[in-house]
Amino acid sequence: MLLVTGAAGFLGTNVLRAAAAQERDVVAATNKGHTLIATAGLVHADLTDKAVVREMIGAIRPEWVLNCAALANLDECEKDPAKARAANVTAAGNLAAACAEFGARLAHISTDSVFDGNRGMYSEDDVPSPVNVYAMTKLESERAVRELLPKSLVVRTNFIGVPVTPGAGLADWIASSVESGKPIKGFDDVIFSPLLATTLAERLFDMMDARLTGLYHLGASDSMSKYHLAVAIAGEMGYPDAKIERASLSDVPSAVRRPLNTSLVSKRAEAALKTKMPTVLEAVKGFVAQRQELSQSTVTG
Ligand SMILES: NC(=O)c1ccc[n+]([C@@H]2O[C@H](COP(=O)([O-])OP(=O)(O)OC[C@H]3O[C@@H](n4cnc5c(N)ncnc54)[C@H](OP(=O)(O)O)[C@@H]3O)[C@@H](O)[C@H]2O)c1
Repeated sequence: MLLVTGAAGFLGTNVLRAAAAQERDVVAATNKGHTLIATAGLVHADLTDKAVVREMIGAIRPEWVLNCAALANLDECEKDPAKARAANVTAAGNLAAACAEFGARLAHISTDSVFDGNRGMYSEDDVPSPVNVYAMTKLESERAVRELLPKSLVVRTNFIGVPVTPGAGLADWIASSVESGKPIKGFDDVIFSPLLATTLAERLFDMMDARLTGLYHLGASDSMSKYHLAVAIAGEMGYPDAKIERASLSDVPSAVRRPLNTSLVSKRAEAALKTKMPTVLEAVKGFVAQRQELSQSTVTG
C-alpha cells in the first residue's frame, strides 16, 4: 500500500488521479486540505510533528510513502525561513525516521530549483547551488532524507498539470488567460523541462515498483522557455493568435531570486526504467487534453 502525503496539493492530487487510473491501493495524508480524489483511506497529520508522523506510519504500515508535502510557495518561504524549514526539512526528516523505524520505503519529491540555473541541462552529478530559501530548504530536505534513510528514493523534478484550483499553476493560468483573451507575458529566458504531473506520477510508480533507491532527475527529454510554453499551450488549445508577449525575468522586480535555466537531464531514470521521457510538447498536449476532459466531467458529472 502507498501512503501519499501532501495529497490535497497540486502534485498530490495528480498522483491520486494517476493512482486511481491504475487502481492502486492508496491512503491519502493531508494536513489542513481536502482531497478531490477518493482513496482507500484518508488521514490528517501535521508532518512537522515527529510523534504524529511516527504514530501515522506505525498505524498504517505502508510499503511506500510518497512525500508530496512541502511549502512550495517561494515568496512565503523567503518571508518565513523557519516555516519553510519546518515544512520542507523537518517534515521530510520525520517521515524518513519513521520509515526507517517501521521498515517502509520512502520516495521524496525535490525540485529542479536546487540548481542556480546559470547553465541548464543538469544531471544528478552536477553540484546544486540554490539561490533562494525554498530551494535551500529543498536541498536540505534531500540531505535529511538520505541521511536518515539511505535506501530512500529522492526525485528532483518539475511539472505542469491540471491544478486543484482552476487558474492556479502556470499552465492553467496560461490556459485560462488565453481563453478569456487576456494578454499575458511569458519569460523567454526562464527555461525548464516539465513533465505532465500525471506522467510524473506514473514514472514514480514505475520507480517504486522497481524498488529504486538513490537520487534521480525526472523531467522532459528536452526543455522550453516559459514564453514558448505559453505559445505551445495556446496553439494546442486552438488560439494561435493569443496575445502572448515575450518578457525577461529581469523585467519583473521580485524579492526572491529565481534561477533562469533549471532544465534537467533524466538519463539515469531513463536507463533504470528502460523508457524515454516525453518532450515538453507532449506534456503540453497531455495537459490540454486532460484539462478539457476534466472540465467536461465536471459539467456532466
Ligand atoms: N509546483 C511546482 O511547480 C513544483 C516544481 C518542482 C518541484 N515541486 C515539488 O513538488 C512537491 C509538491 O508541490 P506542490 O506544487 O504540489 O505543492 P502544494 O500544491 O503547495 O502542495 C503541498 C501540500 O503540502 C502539504 N503540507 C504543507 N505543510 C504540511 C505539513 N506541515 N504537514 C502535512 N502536510 C503539509 C499541504 O497540505 P494541506 O493542503 O493538507 O495543508 C499541501 O497540500 C514539493 O516537494 C515541491 O517542492 C513543485
